[in-house]
Order: sequence, then C-alpha cells, then structure tokens
Amino acid sequence: MTAELRYRTARTDETTIIVGRGLAAEGSLPAPFERAVFVVDERVASLWAESLGRLASALAHQSWMMRLEAGETAKTPEGAARLIAELSAIGIAKDDWLVGVGGGTITDLTSFVAQIFLRGTKCALVPTTLLAQIDAAIGGKSGLNLDGGKNRIGSFYHPAWVFCDTLFLDTLPERQLRSGVAEALKVFAVSDGDSFNGIARDTRVLTESVRRDDLVDSAVRAKAILLEQDPYESCPRRLLNFGHTFAHSFEEESRFTLTHGEAVLLSMLCETRIGLLLGVCAEEVFEDLYYAVDLYLSAEARRFRASTDQICKALRHTRSLRAGRDDMITLSAIGRGTLVSLVPPDVAVAAWDEVSALFHRDES
Ligand code: GLY
Repeated sequence: MTAELRYRTARTDETTIIVGRGLAAEGSLPAPFERAVFVVDERVASLWAESLGRLASALAHQSWMMRLEAGETAKTPEGAARLIAELSAIGIAKDDWLVGVGGGTITDLTSFVAQIFLRGTKCALVPTTLLAQIDAAIGGKSGLNLDGGKNRIGSFYHPAWVFCDTLFLDTLPERQLRSGVAEALKVFAVSDGDSFNGIARDTRVLTESVRRDDLVDSAVRAKAILLEQDPYESCPRRLLNFGHTFAHSFEEESRFTLTHGEAVLLSMLCETRIGLLLGVCAEEVFEDLYYAVDLYLSAEARRFRASTDQICKALRHTRSLRAGRDDMITLSAIGRGTLVSLVPPDVAVAAWDEVSALFHRDES
C-alpha cells in the first residue's frame, strides 16, 4: 500500500524591532525575560560596561555574560561548539533566551546557536554596529564561515526581538560607519530612490548622531517592507542580495582586510556596470551610484584589486548556489532593483575592469 500524507509548515514567527537611543535608560524595553545569556562582543563589553549592565537588568531577571572576541573567525563551527559547551555548562533550557550583543559576526553566531541548541532556544539581538543595525541583525539570517568561505553554513531563524540602540554607534570607528552606510545605500538603491538620494549627496550621517539615528530608522523600515513580503527569501527579498554577487569573494580575496560594507560598495558598482553593459539601465544610473560610492568608500578599499579569475569564480559560485541559474540583482533605476540571469563571464569581467579603471583614474 502507498499512502501520501501531507502537512503544512507555515511559519508564523514575528519579530519586533525597537530603534532608539539609550533604550535601557529610557525604560523602552519589554517585560523582562526570566533567564538570559548575553553573548557580547569583547570590545563592546569594555567600552559600554555600564550600559550593558543596565541592559541586562532591564531585560532579564537572571543573566550571564559571555564575552567573545568578535570577527569573522568567531563565527565558525568551532566557535559555535565552544558557545554550546558553555550554554550546557550553565544549564540553559529551551525557554531561556540567547541575546547576541555586537556586530554582524556576533549576531550571526548567536542566531545560529539559538536555532540549533536544544532544537531552538529563544533569541533576541542587540546589534551595536551600523551595519548590523541596518542589515545583519534584521531579517533572521544566521551564518557561520567554513574553510575561509563566508556564510557557507546558515539558516533563517527570526529573533523575537531586535533592539537597535543607536547610542552604541557613538564609539564606532569611522571606517565601520562607512561600512554600515553601504548596506543603507544597498537597500535604498533597490527599493527607495528618495532615501538613496538623501544620503548619496550628504555625508553628515558620518558625523551627526541625529542623522545617523534617522538613517537606522529609515533603513530598517525599508528592509522590513521587503521582509514582510518574503521572510525566507523566495522572491522580493532577493533584491537585498544586490551588492553581494562579488562581495563575499572580494572579502575572501582580501583575507578580510576589506570590511563587508566596502566589499558591498565595490560589488554594487560591478553589478550595476553589468546592468549597463546588458542594457538594463542607463549610464546616469551607474553615474549616480558611483557618485554615492565614491563619497563613502575608504582609501583602503580603493586600493583593492580583484583578478579576472576572482570575478569568474564569484559568478560560478552564484551559479552553483542556484542550480545553474546565475541570477544577479542589478538596478534598472535608482530605487528599483531587478533580476538578470545568465550573465556572460566576459561581460562581468569587462564590467569589473571598467569599475577598477575608475579608481585607477582617481589615483593618477
Ligand atoms: N542581508 C540580506 C538579507 O537579509 O536578505
């Protein structure tokens, strides 16, 4: 006898994101969790010891702090195993909370471990970098690096809460702020032309905290609109992969001396140049993007060079991820992302050569 049985697995996770300045001091946090482990970036723990103490007592009746060295080497299977061993030693249970406090590497690692430890503990995130507040901690993507490859392991595990406290951004080095603005430019470039233009000609988000706070609010809103339609990346959310076809490969090639945001800025230019060469967008679209990237790209990133092999390898990687469909996001206009398929490698190489030449020109 053959039987065919089916059941549906529609997920109904809900994430609440709170954006504000000095959240713990203002008392704008939800009713406390019973028990929580705070997985905290070492640098944040030293700079913000008092605020973190307030945050922990505002959020949980009983809490533990685990301080970790953040960075790409933290989010590995070995890093996850170490964290799991510590959670077991404490005796963390399924109803307890894991709270990731730090940049994207800490929030990626915490989300991943929260999903697999005891087949799922509760998860909340407190992103402390601009990039994590705008992108990495928003949308439930977790990730671990494997054999030097970025995010080779990962999943979707939407946290119940994300607390974007913009106070933490005040001690961020400028290069990290620029890196965060890259992700804001990305989400606006594919979905909101007016907001893109707002930061494309005015770098005061780097120096004025009020402008930065507004930027976090508007970028999170723009991303949430896409997430609400597509939380598990089957269609519109893929627009957020703009700037990511080459970015991971650029980061790996630079041995992670490029920040993620810098790699995204360079990749956005390359993908838009491809769009131009394929007739998807007009020259002015590329020019507008270049103008914005030029404002925010650090001196270190301008010196980065990728080989033809690297470009082709990134394309092959995209193709292997999508079973032969090397889809890529490019722009048809500022504020409108679009999908292109089957990009010929010679077009990608020509596009990257043209983008690199712009920086060579600027150097000479
Ligand atoms: N970082 C892209 C996304 O969340 O989909």
